[in-house]
Amino acid sequence: MNKGVGINEANHTLTPQLKVTGGRKLSGEVRISGAKNSALVLMAASLLTDDDINLRNVPPLTDIACMSNILLSLGAKLDHRVDNLSINSSNLNNSSPPYELVNSLRASFFCIGSLLARMGIAQVPLPGGCRIGTRPVAEHIRGLHALGAKIEIEHGLVSAVITSPQHRLRGTNIQLRCPSVGATETILMAAVLAEGETVIQNAAREPEVTDLIGLLTAMGANIHGTGTSTIKVIGVRRLHGADYSVIPDRIEAGTFLLAAGITKSTLRIAPFIPEHLTAVIDKLQEAGCILKQDGIGVIIQANELKSVSFTTQPFPGFPTDLQAPFMSMLTMAKGASLITEKIYENRLQHVPELQRMGASIVLHKDTALIKGVSKLSAAPVTASDLRASAALVLASLVADGTTYIRGLYHLDRGYAFMEKKLRSLGAYIDRLNP
Ligand code: EPZ
Repeated sequence: MNKGVGINEANHTLTPQLKVTGGRKLSGEVRISGAKNSALVLMAASLLTDDDINLRNVPPLTDIACMSNILLSLGAKLDHRVDNLSINSSNLNNSSPPYELVNSLRASFFCIGSLLARMGIAQVPLPGGCRIGTRPVAEHIRGLHALGAKIEIEHGLVSAVITSPQHRLRGTNIQLRCPSVGATETILMAAVLAEGETVIQNAAREPEVTDLIGLLTAMGANIHGTGTSTIKVIGVRRLHGADYSVIPDRIEAGTFLLAAGITKSTLRIAPFIPEHLTAVIDKLQEAGCILKQDGIGVIIQANELKSVSFTTQPFPGFPTDLQAPFMSMLTMAKGASLITEKIYENRLQHVPELQRMGASIVLHKDTALIKGVSKLSAAPVTASDLRASAALVLASLVADGTTYIRGLYHLDRGYAFMEKKLRSLGAYIDRLNP
């Protein structure tokens, strides 16, 4: 594919970008990496013990590198070899991660729960909003306060301190106002070392929350109600080390299912846990794709695509993180589809870029009406956020001509070796670096 850098490409390589020539069918098998949204919170949970935590199947992503820097800034020791990460937090010497790091990775705020439970104090910068929404953390803070922490928010910094003479938080009942993934995880990590029993109601049920409970239980925590919206935690005095493997990334797996869908290809995707993506599998089958479980993987066979409609919801509903990639596929489906984004108030920024490629999409508030077209055409496009970047990659796989995609900073946050994996499936895709 590499025919050297032509005049055009010379002009284009001021920033890293992907060059994709569309129109190829895909075939073969793709290996799914560990889940970003699980690995990040498992790394935060490692702060809860002074023993070694060995995490396997950790994805090579820039978000993971950022979280590693945050743990290092707190005094943890890390040993990262390929996809194994060993963390030791026996000599934590700082309870306040730096603003620059927290500001570039929202998930780092989830460390406030484990830091507070372990050190009795945590001072974490407010993460602020991001491109897809304001993303408040009021439920995280309300939960820690209910567990007995003294909370102050000043100068953009959340200070949480345990004031009880026992130097422990106190178990209680917490009813979440929304089934926030992050708030459930923060409260879980604080409650495992608290005195007595904590019950979290309206808890998030995402597989990443279940994976966190898996690690905490392996560390000696006492938790009941896994996978349900009512989680009960009986606090223990100390947690010990553990060796744990991160679940496969269901959002990456979903993205490759949609790559097969939009290119009308047959692919094997592994490892794959169907229970993690039931709502997506239902919609893919409704759109005409055939999915067959095959050992630890799944085979998807896609032909003519039919329009489908969905609204994003908390798990087990349709995941917001696959809304943009699914929309890409529906731009090429027969008929009109309706997609409503209910989780984030600003997660339809990929629409103008898809329209630039010839997609027929009309936006009205949080809903997009997508009328299928017979072809998309290549154009220079820019990704606005992580999942928008995946949507543009998918559209470029079928677009007529060569598409240049900027904003790879977003893609690299959540997709490990995306272009390498697509190239191994037969796509014409290259990364152009300055
Ligand atoms: C996690 O974010 C994921 N990130 C997100 O993935 C994912 O989109 C989201 O869960 C929903 O599935 C990580 O796990 C690192 P939430 P989180 O708290 O925990 C509102 C990706 O693409 N809310 O469940 O931050 C909030 O504003 C990323 O990989 C409050 O109102 O999500 C949002 O509208 C993007 N108050 C909704 O709840 C709160 O205190 C869901 O947010 C907390 C949240």
